[in-house]
Amino acid sequence: MDRRALVQEATARLRAAGVASPEHDAAELLAHALGTTRTRLPLVTDVAPEVVADVRGLVERRAAREPLQHITGVAPFRYGQVAVGPGVFVPRPETELLAGWVVDHLTHASRRSMTRPPVVVDLCTGSGVIARAVADEVPWAEVHAVELEQSAHAWAERNLAGTDVDLRLGDFRTAFDDLLGTVDVVVSNPPYVPLEAWESVAVEARDHDPHAALFSGADGLEAIRALAVRAAELLRPGGWVAVEHADVQGEAAPAAFAAAGSWEQVRDHADLAGRPRFLTARRAAVRNPHGE
Ligand SMILES: C[S@@+](CC[C@H](N)C(=O)[O-])C[C@H]1O[C@@H](n2cnc3c(N)ncnc32)[C@H](O)[C@@H]1O
Repeated sequence: MDRRALVQEATARLRAAGVASPEHDAAELLAHALGTTRTRLPLVTDVAPEVVADVRGLVERRAAREPLQHITGVAPFRYGQVAVGPGVFVPRPETELLAGWVVDHLTHASRRSMTRPPVVVDLCTGSGVIARAVADEVPWAEVHAVELEQSAHAWAERNLAGTDVDLRLGDFRTAFDDLLGTVDVVVSNPPYVPLEAWESVAVEARDHDPHAALFSGADGLEAIRALAVRAAELLRPGGWVAVEHADVQGEAAPAAFAAAGSWEQVRDHADLAGRPRFLTARRAAVRNPHGE
């Protein structure tokens, strides 16, 4: 079958099923079936009948709103990719900005001559994607990561194999007591969807991302408020935190950090579309017990 005709057929099927990016996904599924990349597809003219049958099967799975990344088994992220599937949150492109801020910060901090490797902690690591990107791009950093859910932790184990990342299973609220007051950068993409927003979550996320990865209390800010406390305990004075939040939390998330009382230079960052996306803040010097 002609490659372009097959992509058109697949695109039409996915569009009719309400998939958000039908052309992109159709091409990705064909590339996956052919064992090539989307950018190399123009080199293919005809597709063998058995591959056409495979592609049609994959398209039906996607039309049933199974995430593209569950079908291909990978999620691209910055200069690499991680393995994903049932039981773990699929990394989103917008989180690349958060990881990029950490990489840039560490790169500049190193130029300012640190006397020891910078210590980075990824709280709520999921697939391990942020920890993996930092370890790959800042190989001189000492990277730690924690995940609460056993199933996600197993994916992180797989994605962090071969790195020196210290991966733990546990709750970020109590993890890393051994690092208290010594960490240079805390990064987190926590759950932040309000429970009441259940209806508005995309079908792919609602039906396939673990609920512990999405929802965080009635206003979606429960984990972020807890991070404002735990990150302050982990960081050394002058250390930095970077936390992703929902686009509607551009004021509420920084306000949660400002209210915690341990932070200075609390600032929000927008994504390329101008939507509020993550906050950064600097751990203030330790206050004395009298608050003076
Ligand atoms: C939005 S996902 C982000 C995963 C990954 N960092 C990413 O950016 O793709 C949030 C993750 O936090 C985990 N999580 C939720 N509550 C947690 C807690 N109290 N301690 C540690 N991890 C937690 C969830 O299981 C989920 O894997």
